Amino acid sequence: MKSINKIGVLTSGGDAPGMNAAIRAVVKAGLHYEKEVLGVQKGFLGLIDDLIRPLSSQDVYNIIHRGGTILKSARCDAFRTKEGRQKAFDTMKARGIDALVAIGGDGTLTGARIFGAEFGVPVIGLPGTIDNDLYGTDYTIGYDTAVNTVVTAVDKIRDTAHSHDRLFVVEVMGRDAGFIALRSGIATGAEKIMIPEAKTFIEDLFDSLARGKSHDEGAGIIIVAEGDDFGGALEVEKKIKKRFPDYDVRVSILGHIQRGGAPSAFDRVLASGLGFQAVKGLLDGKSGVMVGSINRKIEFTPLEKTVKYNQPINVELHSIAEILAL
Ligand code: F6P
Repeated sequence: MKSINKIGVLTSGGDAPGMNAAIRAVVKAGLHYEKEVLGVQKGFLGLIDDLIRPLSSQDVYNIIHRGGTILKSARCDAFRTKEGRQKAFDTMKARGIDALVAIGGDGTLTGARIFGAEFGVPVIGLPGTIDNDLYGTDYTIGYDTAVNTVVTAVDKIRDTAHSHDRLFVVEVMGRDAGFIALRSGIATGAEKIMIPEAKTFIEDLFDSLARGKSHDEGAGIIIVAEGDDFGGALEVEKKIKKRFPDYDVRVSILGHIQRGGAPSAFDRVLASGLGFQAVKGLLDGKSGVMVGSINRKIEFTPLEKTVKYNQPINVELHSIAEILAL
């Protein structure tokens, strides 16, 4: 295999707190191994359009605590086509980039896998998404921060819920996964947690509401993952109002505040460790894998697996949450 001297790094898909810490770690690890690191702007689009610049230690100074991504991110339709990927490869060759670190979620890792296999480019993926739904790591970069953001918001909402005897339906992110909903729901003592991985039966929901009313005049918090089969918070609100017309129900959709903000210490440490291991992995000859942390051990999982499987949610924890909410 050709030796690696120049490593490209990019962030793609939805941004996640801790991406900057990961970029910083990739750059610092590269310098440690006397390699050059080039930052690709706007994800795969930057490879196609040659939006590339060298990253020095100075460029990643003072970013470990910042949310978002200094490299910017984008969803890139052109990279889904063979012509787009060919242009990206041509740019890499022209720039002398030998290997790529791609930081992002499912879509990013899918693109990285196809690109690496198609052109024989060494690629390593880093799990960067608030959704925590990637197979091959216990935690993704950004998830812990997002959960803490939700907890802070819901604690505040609960004050109003209690003061006004109101029921709040709070919608959190998670198009396909309920990790944010489950963890934040447990941490805030939510009366009900609705996630796509566990079917909610309407009568069960009504039962828990009726039970809740008996001890707190109808105040409460329902956390719904945006991808729940019920159809999100507005749909849940409609159903509740129909069945319990006297309930004072409000909806709060937390939206993109969950994606921004300073990364938690957990996410900074995770991103730093994984970023370093991505570079070390590439130099050790690893490719077509995602670097993750499982049971506190660094694991390299083939990208085929990370994109084919989902990280299973802890359904037992969901059942425990139901009991604790009684
Ligand atoms: O980052 C993942 C995610 O937050 C999903 O949970 C959500 O559905 C999606 O991104 C929204 O992304 P965008 O705002 O980029 O369309």
